[in-house]
Amino acid sequence: GSGGGGDRSSALAGPPVLENSVQKIDVNPPKGTRDFPPEEMRLRNWLFHNFREVSRLTGFEEVDYPVLESEALFIRKAGEEIRDQLYCFEDRGNRRVALRPELTPSLARLVIQKGKSLSLPLKWFAIGQCWRYERMTRGRRREHYQWNMDIIGVPEVTAEAELISSIVTFFKKIGISASDVGFKVNSRKVLQEILRSYSISENLFAKVCVIIDKIEKIPIDEIKKELKSVGMPQEAVNELLEVLSVKSLSELEEILGGAGEAIAELKQLFSLAEKFGYSEWIQFDASVVRGLAYYTGIVFEGFDRAGKLRAICGGGRYDRLLSTFGGDDLPACGFGFGDAVIIELLKEKGILPELVPQIENIVCALDHDLQGAAATVATMLREKGQSVDLVLESKPLKWVFKRAARINAQRLILVGNTEWKKGMVSVKILSSGEQSEIKLDELE
Ligand code: HAM
Repeated sequence: GSGGGGDRSSALAGPPVLENSVQKIDVNPPKGTRDFPPEEMRLRNWLFHNFREVSRLTGFEEVDYPVLESEALFIRKAGEEIRDQLYCFEDRGNRRVALRPELTPSLARLVIQKGKSLSLPLKWFAIGQCWRYERMTRGRRREHYQWNMDIIGVPEVTAEAELISSIVTFFKKIGISASDVGFKVNSRKVLQEILRSYSISENLFAKVCVIIDKIEKIPIDEIKKELKSVGMPQEAVNELLEVLSVKSLSELEEILGGAGEAIAELKQLFSLAEKFGYSEWIQFDASVVRGLAYYTGIVFEGFDRAGKLRAICGGGRYDRLLSTFGGDDLPACGFGFGDAVIIELLKEKGILPELVPQIENIVCALDHDLQGAAATVATMLREKGQSVDLVLESKPLKWVFKRAARINAQRLILVGNTEWKKGMVSVKILSSGEQSEIKLDELE
């Protein structure tokens, strides 16, 4: 049959079904995507376990959203790269949908939906797969998992300080120190103050930030051209570019004067960092603005000090995102931490964890007729909470030992005729080689 059913209008019909033809498929996953065979899955689970553990330590609650969202959720007009990378299509009900390139718009949608029923502040975390049609480089792919932590409802810099503290906790937990990585911190309010001093419209703010973010990737003349083409006067462009090269707060203070919010917030962040105990992890860097349109205040990114990899994580404050979706604004900040660059870093350092499969028992019948008995033993153990790899076919003992070693079984339980008649099984502790006969009901 044709399968699928439903309304198959010509434009939306699937690919033609070739009856009676066998075509060899490409065994690789689509370009830029990954399979997770067991060894990769163990690593991913280990990473996610640490993400969750740190989120738990800081009192965040886990949330999730659909991978498929309305395309409109991701369309912003500031010329962001992320928009051109969208995996979007029309579904069978003629709705424009997209695979999420990030989690933040979904979070905003849910916060608006829940409205007044939410008690603030929210501290939410999520781990989700994101899709971006990127040009592929080391640590950048077309799908990646992102750990997000967000705080909604706190206008103070304490929120940013808490978020960075969480990431530092994570780094330490997996063996990364302040000599391996750091955070570059800036505030978009620096740019905002410059734009204001030239009476440039607030509407240009996001666009200017998105242009500035490309400063490392495209020639400076190109940046200047783009800034002018969106409507910035020449002197404003010059001052902006001068400020971007500033690497210390005191220098920035000299240029901007001490009165503005940008300086005050950055100073507060650095002073909180001291109290949290992660001063040596953070540094001011005026050139960091991040590429997403919605950030409004402090922004930060994690970088490797060897300078070999792209940003490890990034985030910041986005106090005006909700109103762009027609909701009431709430103070908000958060970060996204990908699963790719961090693994590259652990590889570079040679500290990838060695993860092996683990199982408590391997149970094997010594005789084909005893396979039922072996099944009974397996059930008994599993009901006691013990994991069991049950050998499902008659296999030579040599094979069973090899398998036991491969899966790191702690005990080998052999079900043989003589013992079974006495209600017993033979148990071998594989680490010591110690062997004994144990009554079935005494098996722990
Ligand atoms: P983002 O800077 O676009 O921010 O991405 C955050 C992190 O996700 C990056 O630093 C990187 O670790 C990872 N990432 C992004 N794209 C890729 C890719 N193609 N391949 C591998 N890893 C990637 C956001 O997405 C914001 N929504 C983060 C946020 C949450 N801001 C506030 N709350």
